[in-house]
Amino acid sequence: MGKVTVALAVSVDGFIAGPNDGRKHPLGEGGEALFEWYFNGDTPSRHYDRFRLSKKSADFFDAGLDASGAVVTGRRTYEIANAWEGDGPVPGLPVFVLTHKAPAEPVKGSVPYTYVTDGIESCIKQAKKAAGSKAVALTGSQSVQQALEAGLLDEVQLSIVPILLGGGVRLLDNISEQTKLETVEVIDAPGVTHITYKVLK
Ligand SMILES: NC(=O)c1ccc[n+]([C@@H]2O[C@H](COP(=O)([O-])OP(=O)(O)OC[C@H]3O[C@@H](n4cnc5c(N)ncnc54)[C@H](OP(=O)(O)O)[C@@H]3O)[C@@H](O)[C@H]2O)c1
Repeated sequence: MGKVTVALAVSVDGFIAGPNDGRKHPLGEGGEALFEWYFNGDTPSRHYDRFRLSKKSADFFDAGLDASGAVVTGRRTYEIANAWEGDGPVPGLPVFVLTHKAPAEPVKGSVPYTYVTDGIESCIKQAKKAAGSKAVALTGSQSVQQALEAGLLDEVQLSIVPILLGGGVRLLDNISEQTKLETVEVIDAPGVTHITYKVLK
């Protein structure tokens, strides 16, 4: 089985979205700065045609997606992203949506969506089965926090953007126990620093 990982863009003060996120401002007010590194170079991503990253960021970003076999998302991210119009956050990968209630009209699109209402353990178990030997990639903050609390998270990849957002959605709130991390890799790329941590259990 593959690992359970998260790769998100965060501000220096730890936010993955600024204040007042929603369909109008998917990353909150000012939060679009978190994704500027997707467009600050001339190297296309192999997974997203429209992205133009620095070479260092493109290599990091594409390697993460190459290694992933399924995505777990919280319902807020899913709603704010309008379910990625049925294509999922990562092209070609099945999506597992952690939610208290499945939508009346499930999304129909190019990848399968599964709505999981019986908690993070079940969600990750189902996603791992779908991912096979590849990684399960978590997105949004709540699945990450719950996976950490349940001892199910293996790796954290932070793309740290030099901005202070001052409010919004914090990635690592609600952590009740100290957790040690081991720094595996640091990539200093234009406009962003990518740090990979292993979660020590
Ligand atoms: N910076 C980045 O790289 C990045 C990447 C992705 C997302 N984002 C941003 O992150 C924000 C969303 O993150 P978020 O942390 O607020 O929300 P989230 O984790 O995406 O979703 C939270 C929702 O998931 C459902 N949920 C969570 N735990 C559950 C459980 N144990 N059982 C059943 N349902 C559960 C609940 O929805 P229900 O009660 O409605 O079912 C809950 O309100 C958005 O602004 C998005 O744009 C940023």
